[in-house]
Order: sequence, then C-alpha cells, then structure tokens
Amino acid sequence: MVKDFHKPILEGKGATDYERYLRTDELLSLQTPAEELSHPDELTFQVVHQSSELLMKGASWELERARVALIAGNYQNSARLMRRANAMLEHPIALLHILETITPYDYHIIRAGLGHGSGLDSPGFLSLLHIAPRIGDAFQEHLTDKGLTADDVYRRHEEFFALHDVAERMLDFDERMQLFRFHHLKLAQRIIGGGVIGTMGTPVEVLQQRMQHVAYRELWDLRNQITANANTSS
Ligand code: HEM
Repeated sequence: MVKDFHKPILEGKGATDYERYLRTDELLSLQTPAEELSHPDELTFQVVHQSSELLMKGASWELERARVALIAGNYQNSARLMRRANAMLEHPIALLHILETITPYDYHIIRAGLGHGSGLDSPGFLSLLHIAPRIGDAFQEHLTDKGLTADDVYRRHEEFFALHDVAERMLDFDERMQLFRFHHLKLAQRIIGGGVIGTMGTPVEVLQQRMQHVAYRELWDLRNQITANANTSS
C-alpha cells in the first residue's frame, strides 16, 4: 500500500502534522483578534512581545543546560550551548527596533489597555537575570578548584582554550543583556519619553540605572588590569 504523506499521523488539533506538532492553532490564537484590537499597530506590539518571551525562554533553557555542562567540567559543550543562547538573544534586541516604528500618539491608544502590565514582570527576562549569577558561580568554582584566576585563563588562553571560550561566551551573554537594556531604554525614551513614569509606576530613568548592571564584573574589570599591566611593562 502506498503511504499517504499528506494525512496527519499525530494526535492533536489541526489538519496537518505541522499544525498539530507546533500547536499553531493555540499559538496563533494568543493575539487579540483583529476586530478587538485597540489600534491596528497593537498586533505588532503583541507579536514582538510574545516572540521575545519565546526566545528568552529558549535562551534561558540553553543557558541552564550550559550551566550543568560547566559544572560537569564539559567546557566545550557549555560554550556551544551558550553560543546558541546568545544567538537567540540577538533577536529580542532586533525586535525592539520594530516597535520604534509605532508613533507616540498611536502607542498611547495601545498603552491605555495594558493595565499595570510591565516588562519588569517579563518571565523571560527574569529567568535570564536568575541564571546569570548562577553561571558566574559555576565558573568561579571551577577556577577555585583548579587554583586558577581569571587572569591565568586569559594569559594562558591557549592552554585553557575551552575555559577561555566559556568565559568569552559568558561575556557575550552579559553584553547582550546590556544591549537589550540599552536599545529598550532608547525605545522607551523615543515612544513615551525619558522623564515619565511607566505603567508599573517606575520612572523611565530607572531603566537607565538598571542598564549599568553587569553580571560578570570580574571578567570586564580584568581587561582594565591587563591593559594596566601592559602599560607598566612597556
Ligand atoms: C513600546 C514599547 C515599550 C515601551 C514604551 C516600554 C516601556 C517600559 C518601561 C517604562 C519600563 C519600566 C517599568 C515600568 O513599566 O514601569 C519597562 C521595563 C521593561 N520592559 Fe519595556 N517597553 C516596551 C517594549 C518592551 C519589549 C518589546 C520588551 C520585551 C520583552 C520589554 C521588556 C521590558 C523589560 C525586560 C523591562 C525591565 C527592564 C530592566 O530590568 O532593566 N519592553 N519597559
């Protein structure tokens, strides 16, 4: 008998296995229907936020796997998974620019329906904030166990190639968090202004302060030390 490849074989809703596996029915019903949108731009607002949440969820998942690999001493796999997570985080940053195309007057129509909804409660961003120091602790524990400093890993980077790769991927992650906050601040300043209060009562200026937050201070400061050392030895 000839197989009918068009017939779905998976359980679930939808006419095809593609729709059933990805649950596209549910996924595509998570946005406000056209007739209920407060403004035609609201769909873009929702699609950008929901996509960002998915990508941050995916990145957190890979970062947790990277942390477990790091604890196990599997540096190559840890760096590989962090590389993947960092590639995912490029997108929430890029997606912010889409929202820059909403003009302030139109945004206020959408904003009126947000209640106290605020990115401060973003599950995706909160999970990234949660995982960052835990990866830092795992890295530090490995240095301590081996009797190494971060400077040793950088100075002898060829010898500690894989651990150096982990450190660099951690820095990539930290940089992406800072880039997200920077571009998000610019977006907020552009659409609602830098001197106002957000939907959760937080002044936009607070976003500026939060932008200073760094997860792996030691790795950033190390550069200063390396440059200072180079200056004294030259
Ligand atoms: C029109 C677009 C946007 C505006 C005007 C805006 C505005 C704001 C404001 C004013 C805050 C401060 C807290 C408060 O709400 O009171 C905030 C926080 C935040 N928003 Fe947005 N936002 C926008 C889009 C987005 C998008 C697309 C995301 C992606 C998930 C996002 C994620 C966040 C996060 C994570 C925070 C906390 C920031 C931190 O901890 O530094 N926002 N946003």
